[in-house]
Amino acid sequence: MADDETHLFRTSWGLYDALSEKNYMFHREIYAIIAGMLQQRHEQGGYSMLDLGCGNTRFLAPCLHAAPPARYEGVDLSPTALDEARGYLSGLSNVTLRCQDMLQAVCESGKGSLDTLFSGYAVHHLDAEEKQQLFLASAESLAPGGRFILVDIAREQGETRQQYLDTYLHTMRTQWTAVRPEDMDAACAHVAAYDFPETVADLTRMASKAGFREVRLVDRFAQHHVMVFQM
Ligand SMILES: C[S@@+](CC[C@H](N)C(=O)[O-])C[C@H]1O[C@@H](n2cnc3c(N)ncnc32)[C@H](O)[C@@H]1O
Repeated sequence: MADDETHLFRTSWGLYDALSEKNYMFHREIYAIIAGMLQQRHEQGGYSMLDLGCGNTRFLAPCLHAAPPARYEGVDLSPTALDEARGYLSGLSNVTLRCQDMLQAVCESGKGSLDTLFSGYAVHHLDAEEKQQLFLASAESLAPGGRFILVDIAREQGETRQQYLDTYLHTMRTQWTAVRPEDMDAACAHVAAYDFPETVADLTRMASKAGFREVRLVDRFAQHHVMVFQM
């Protein structure tokens, strides 16, 4: 099996579950915010959602059950994760799960057809050029008033990728103490090879260039950010 950005997730989804269970990436706080946003959206009427890099939806699924969308589509390159997602999402109507690249999924959704685009901890796997393409395709696919809710890691202004990695890997090795040493090596190798976080300013610039009207940093927990890009 190819060693790429999804390798860790295809082979050992359990490791990511263990990390999120310990809340090392602030899933609890962040998905409480997402739950509130979706609840508000639900109260305004039916909404649809495309989720990019949905993983097994373990943290998003309770938000969706509490504020059910009229239609939910999740895409991911990991069949293992998608299999688990089927379980977490069972009971919800109009759910589609596809093994597909996230950029391709947005490009293939019809012009102005999307209401809510969501991505949790997946966009940082794209390089800067691909992220710009993603924003361009998203702006094209979202209906007027639609929004892209992004949960992702970000670099500080002026921080290089190497400086970011040094800090993040140090935190992992010193504070993620419940992870077994052999798993920690795999997790650190994955981060060092495949994490390409932008700064909030870079993401804002990319979104503005793509035609997003408004960008809001909703909250952040260390390197872990929640942003909303509004059409
Ligand atoms: C860290 S997990 C995040 C899972 C979940 N969204 C969350 O917030 O916890 C990142 C997911 O993105 C997927 N992924 C990475 N690159 C992708 C791509 N180009 N297209 C689709 N999925 C991708 C991986 O397979 C993995 O399941």
